[in-house]
Amino acid sequence: MKFFIDTANLAQIQEAYDLGVLDGVTTNPSLMAKEGITGHDNIIKHYLAICDIVDADVSAEVIATDYDGIIEEGTKLAALNEKIVVKVPMIKDGVKAIKYFASKGIKTNCTLVFSAGQALLAAKAGATYVSPFVGRLDDVSTDGMQLIEDIRLIFDNYGYETQILAASVRHPMHIIQCAKIGADVITAPLSAIAALLKHPLTDSGLAQFLADHAKAAGK
Ligand code: G3P
Repeated sequence: MKFFIDTANLAQIQEAYDLGVLDGVTTNPSLMAKEGITGHDNIIKHYLAICDIVDADVSAEVIATDYDGIIEEGTKLAALNEKIVVKVPMIKDGVKAIKYFASKGIKTNCTLVFSAGQALLAAKAGATYVSPFVGRLDDVSTDGMQLIEDIRLIFDNYGYETQILAASVRHPMHIIQCAKIGADVITAPLSAIAALLKHPLTDSGLAQFLADHAKAAGK
């Protein structure tokens, strides 16, 4: 399973990349705004800065919601760097645009997916990735992980190559559950990825090993 980091924070992207387990980066307009990145030129510079850090796919989201606007904006984003994946919302014009981008060999990530039907449409249009938002479904008392299972089944039934990119992942158990189901990718904040490192028995076991070693060495 690939690990993407879901942030526009350069320090966190660098930290995850240095850990050696990072396969990509996803951003969205909210994450860019959270880092105080505003204005077209600054946003473009920021995408390029992210591309400089990682040797991996970087999702850059279009703001346009009409077909022509999505094509124009997505084409420019894709031309910035070969790592850029054009992130397109799951709307009618978005699906049409994904089909266009697929015909041009431009990678896409269909975002804001909340149902199996939406994922199926994105796959039929030729999306590289489809992003079901598990945490936001959990937020409204709907089982986000069930959606990952449903999409996995549907894509496997027909051999769709679109990768399931589980998004809105909030904690380490979301990551484990996605891995058990067979999501292709998870995108998560650094905190959720780093939390996978932790176990109290690892900490106490290491402390004991070091103490025994020091005792045997007469320290
Ligand atoms: O990748 C989508 C993600 O950024 C949304 O996460 O936690 O705002 O639902 P969240």
